[in-house]
Amino acid sequence: MNLASKTIVITGANSGIGLETARALAQSGATIVMACRDPARAETARADIAATVPGAKLEVVGLDLASLADVRRCAELLRTRFPRIDVLINNAGALPFKRQMTVDGFEMQFGVNHLAHFLLTDLLMPALLAAGQPRVINIASLLHHIGKIDFASFRGETPYGAFKAYGQSKLCNVLFTRELARRHQNDGLVTFSVHPGPVGTNIMGRGLLNRTLYRLIGAYMSPRRGAHTSVYLASADGIEATSGAYYNESAKVKAGSKLSNDDALAKRLWAESERLTAAIG
Ligand SMILES: NC(=O)c1ccc[n+]([C@@H]2O[C@H](COP(=O)([O-])OP(=O)(O)OC[C@H]3O[C@@H](n4cnc5c(N)ncnc54)[C@H](OP(=O)(O)O)[C@@H]3O)[C@@H](O)[C@H]2O)c1
Repeated sequence: MNLASKTIVITGANSGIGLETARALAQSGATIVMACRDPARAETARADIAATVPGAKLEVVGLDLASLADVRRCAELLRTRFPRIDVLINNAGALPFKRQMTVDGFEMQFGVNHLAHFLLTDLLMPALLAAGQPRVINIASLLHHIGKIDFASFRGETPYGAFKAYGQSKLCNVLFTRELARRHQNDGLVTFSVHPGPVGTNIMGRGLLNRTLYRLIGAYMSPRRGAHTSVYLASADGIEATSGAYYNESAKVKAGSKLSNDDALAKRLWAESERLTAAIG
């Protein structure tokens, strides 16, 4: 795999699956842009990759997905510094157990996992299309199967359940991918959603309870293994015809949930996401 001429932007590249995706793609020679919210954690991750991948081409940019204004600021910086972006990996994700809200008043999982990535992708579109054959990879989850889209919940109006909100946000990722693919069937952009597998990461917190849980449930994969499908979709030849598809942790196309194949729902979510992001920042 030689991606030496490629520029790849990865959100949440400082931890878990994003960190290992960045490391593997850095190994292939690509310029990796690590878009992370915490400068100290980002620098630690950058130094970690640099130490294991000699000559890695790494750039760090600040990005807090819980603020649409920050998404706009980051996208402008990225477009200026990287007029051509070959691959965007919308990887960052949150799963707070208690309801949290974004700066703009959206329920955190909807706001970070879906809405901010929706806006980031839209704002980076000129740089993506300038690459000729760009790819957008959205990290979803098998748990999109438990998700429903409750349009009245986006601002936290309805009672909060952490996994209910997670399932909804991950269903948003799969629906967004489907509609993005439909809108770009004729301009070279391809897009995929991914279930990376059950992976031992910080997604459920950095505390002892989380670490113990991962140790006890030995079935979790390593983050390196969890990065497998993201790396595959960023680099493999000949997968363009599957644009819009949902891939599992073994890099195989899967059907996804019934709702995730609902084109009318995908269009409605897109229209609502456009309306919500247009009003802010
Ligand atoms: N682990 C699994 O079993 C699993 C299964 C299915 C899908 N996924 C998906 O895989 C993706 C990566 O998660 P992970 O498991 O690797 O967890 P992780 O280790 O916690 O990584 C999540 C990343 O998202 C970043 N992030 C969270 N909130 C953010 C915000 N407001 N702005 C910018 N970045 C933010 C985190 O930054 P900080 O380090 O600063 O917190 C971190 O870099 C997520 O989309 C998750 O839903 C994971």
